[in-house]
Formats: sequence, structure tokens, C-alpha cells
Amino acid sequence: MEILHVSAECYPVAKVGGLGDVVGALPKYQQQAGNFVKVVVPAYRTRYYETHEFDVVHQAGMWMGHNWYHFNVLKERSNELGFDLYLVDIPGLLDTPGVYGYPNDIERFLGFQIAVLDWINEWQHQPDVIHCHDHHTGLIPFLLSYGYKYARLKEIPSVMTIHNAQYQGQFGWDKLYLIPSFDLWKSGLLDWGGAINPLAAAIKCAWRVTTVSPGYLEELFTNANGLEWLISHERGKMVGILNGIDNVVWDPSSDYMLALNYDTATVVEGKHENKQQLCERFGLDASLPLVSFIGRLVGDKGADLLPEIIGRSLAELPGEVNFLVLGSGEPHIEWALQQTRHLVSFGFNVHIGYDESLSHQIYAGSDFLLMPSRVEPCGLNQMYALRYGTVPIVRSTGGLKDTVIDFGDQDGVGIRFIQPSVWDVCNSVKRAIALYGDHHHLEEVRLRGMNIDHSWNSSAQRYLEMYRSTK
Ligand code: ADP
Ligand code: GLC
Repeated sequence: MEILHVSAECYPVAKVGGLGDVVGALPKYQQQAGNFVKVVVPAYRTRYYETHEFDVVHQAGMWMGHNWYHFNVLKERSNELGFDLYLVDIPGLLDTPGVYGYPNDIERFLGFQIAVLDWINEWQHQPDVIHCHDHHTGLIPFLLSYGYKYARLKEIPSVMTIHNAQYQGQFGWDKLYLIPSFDLWKSGLLDWGGAINPLAAAIKCAWRVTTVSPGYLEELFTNANGLEWLISHERGKMVGILNGIDNVVWDPSSDYMLALNYDTATVVEGKHENKQQLCERFGLDASLPLVSFIGRLVGDKGADLLPEIIGRSLAELPGEVNFLVLGSGEPHIEWALQQTRHLVSFGFNVHIGYDESLSHQIYAGSDFLLMPSRVEPCGLNQMYALRYGTVPIVRSTGGLKDTVIDFGDQDGVGIRFIQPSVWDVCNSVKRAIALYGDHHHLEEVRLRGMNIDHSWNSSAQRYLEMYRSTK
């Protein structure tokens, strides 16, 4: 099968969160399973772009409203990623150092989608499926079906994977003139709540829609940031497929970012050494249990609860636990965490920023990984934690519920709580401290987690079956 993934992120080319990890890994596993897989992402000016060589495979131009943009499609020369990587370079739109957060993001991602479609329109053959990810690529299924220019692409099945329905990419109808002309009778397919809504349009127009865990699909029927009714209506073409992880990138026995590599046989010494170095760097006491948080500092992740959780736990249990936070996001949460750091004299440190290598060291050097998410469509952190022998403490929601069984139940690998509240989390921290004190039980829980195969092997097969079901 020939599969084309279209996405705003792909690790290691450009990554902001889990979307990048998924689009960097799933295609590799699909290619290994005997398919021809291409991934196309914008040519942001990231380190990867600056340090690799590319061939120009397509050159063209496009109108977006009254503006004319020249664009190039570049192909990475070495094929080192295990699939064919293409970058869309649009000077003036996508040649930014970062991925998101620019005032013209609507024009940037619209330009990206138009360039991708114009490029496919020139191919001599057609791919078997076009797999779009999140709202940045949400207009592609609509334009494939109803864009006048793309009539010859009509029969290509399109798939939309919803990584997070909280973000839908809406914009006003006043920007309609930016979209390539289409059958105006179909305008209603773009609309949701009086705005052009790319995610809603994709849910209506894609041949299949997937969510990144079965648990999240169930939740979307009642909690989808305004799309509940639409999701219920389209449920017949929806399926939840659990994300996997890249077992090569995330392997404690070969991860070059760690202080010491380890596997299930050497996990005690391995984690001890990694924890020692991490605690030294952050002024923490390595003899105490270390509870860490890695992620975007936003309300959906429950990051706003962290200052109070940390303050209260350290006040109630002085000298019994350490906390470490790595993340960036909403300024008021960053500020509150820094304030907490100044208020408590020991037991807590925070690194504000994005640091891939530090994240690996934290997965390896921590005893517990805290995820108090309000919304978690899948979550990859808990799967990385499990593979690195770190016990996840998670709110029972979405993909977290699908991947973490409480250690009080049979085959348990983590700690689960129900409410995203300070009280529930503090209670879980107490359970974590008790587990830490019971070395035998801790080792048992840890090893069980490390032995789970969360690699993409089985989920990659499920995607292939879903593609085949479009024929
Ligand atoms: P989301 O995509 O919602 O942010 P996921 O759990 O799916 O959440 O994936 C988050 C990914 O981003 C993981 O690979 C995690 O390690 C990484 N990550 C998040 N914040 C940071 C950070 N500040 N520094 C390094 N890696 C981070
Ligand atoms: C989104 C979700 C996260 C998921 C990731 C990859 O960013 O917030 O839960 O793991 O996509 O699918």
C-alpha cells in the first residue's frame, strides 16, 4: 500500500508534543510492514532542516486570496527516518523557527494544505490513502472531494486522526476567499457553529476518522468541545486505535541521552545512577522517592494544580518526597511554579522550557511520573515511563485509562485516581510513597510495566486494516 501522512509535526524534524512522536514513528512501522510510506510536513527552520540535505522535487506557486506564494517540495536525501520525508517550503509563511503560535497560523496551515494538494495533483499515480492528522490538515478531506482543481483526486480515500479535539482551528467566514474554489453548495460541510471549522469539516468529509485511544472515542460522545453531536452522528466511520511508542528511540538499554543504560535485569542499578545524577543537577535528595511531571503547562494537563499539589505534599510530608517539573506553556502556570520553587526550601525544582534530552533523563531517573490530566486523548508519557521502569500516577481518563491499571488491581502497573483535584493527587502521592517503601512490591510493579509491549507493531496493523476497509 502507498500511504501519505500529512501533518504539522514529525519527530525529529519538528516536535511540540505527542503528535510529532506519532508521525515520526507510525510511518516507520508501516514501512517495515512492507508498505510505501511518505510523510509531508512544513519546512520550518528547525535544527533538522538546517542540518540535512534535500532535493527539490516540485516547484510551483499558488494564490491564497490576493497573495501569490512560491513553494517548493523538498525530499530528504538520506532516507534515514525509515520512510520518505517531504517538506513543503513556502517562504513568507512556513519558514519560521517554531511550529505554532504565529498571528498568521490560519494562512500558514492553509498554504501548507493547498501546496500538498497541488503537489499530489501533479503525481502520475495516486496514493492508496491520504492520512491527515489534526485540524492543521482538516480541510484536505473536504478539498479532495469538492475542490474543483482536485477533481482527479476524488477517489483517493482520506483518513483523519483526531489527536486532540480541544483544538479545532476555527476561523471566520470572512476568510473564505483564502480557500481554493469548490462547489459552494457544499459550504455547509465547512461550517460548525457559524465558523469554518477544519476539524469538524474533516470529521464530516474524511472516509474514516480515528481517535488515538478507544477510551477517548467513548468520551468524545459527551465531551468534545462542542463537537459531541457531530461525533455521535458520524460514529459509524469512527474507530479508536491506541497509539504506540517507538521502541528504538525510547529504549533504556540503548538511549544515548541517559547517564547509564539499563534493562529489566539491571533496572535497580540503572535507575539508581540516573536518579543520582538528576538529583545532583536539581539539588534534590536521591534517597527520597522522586515524582516528576513532563509536559505542556496547560489546564488540560492539570498543570495548574501542580503548585498546590507540591506545596501541600511537601508541607504534610516534609522530607518524604521530591518533585521535579519539566515543561513550558501558560505564563501564569510557569510563574506559579517558579514562585513555589522560591517558597519551598527543599524537595522541589522546575525547569521551564523544552528539552528533549532532559525529558529522557527524567523518565529514567524518576520513581513516579505524575499526569493529572483533565483531558488526555492518549498520552505517550505514561508509556515512556513504563518502559523506563517509572511508575505512572495518572488520572483515570482517555488513553491513560486504557494503558494504566492500578497496582491495587490484578496486573497493575501504576497508580490511578478519579478526579483532577489536589486532594486526589495528594492522596495518590501518599500511595506512591508507601509503594516506594515496599521494595519488593515496587520492583514487581516496575518490572510488569517494563515488560509490556507498547510498540507500534499491533496498532500499525490496525491502521492498515482500517485503510483496507475503505476499499
Ligand atoms: P501532548 O501531545 O498532549 O503534549 P503526549 O503525552 O502525547 O502529550 O506527548 C508529549 C510528548 O512531548 C512526549 O514525548 C513528552 O516527553 C514531550 N514533552 C512535553 N513537554 C516537554 C518538554 N518541556 N521538554 C521535552 N519534552 C517534552
Ligand atoms: C495529542 C494528545 C495526546 C496524544 C498525542 C498523540 O497531543 O493531547 O494525548 O498522546 O496527541 O496522539
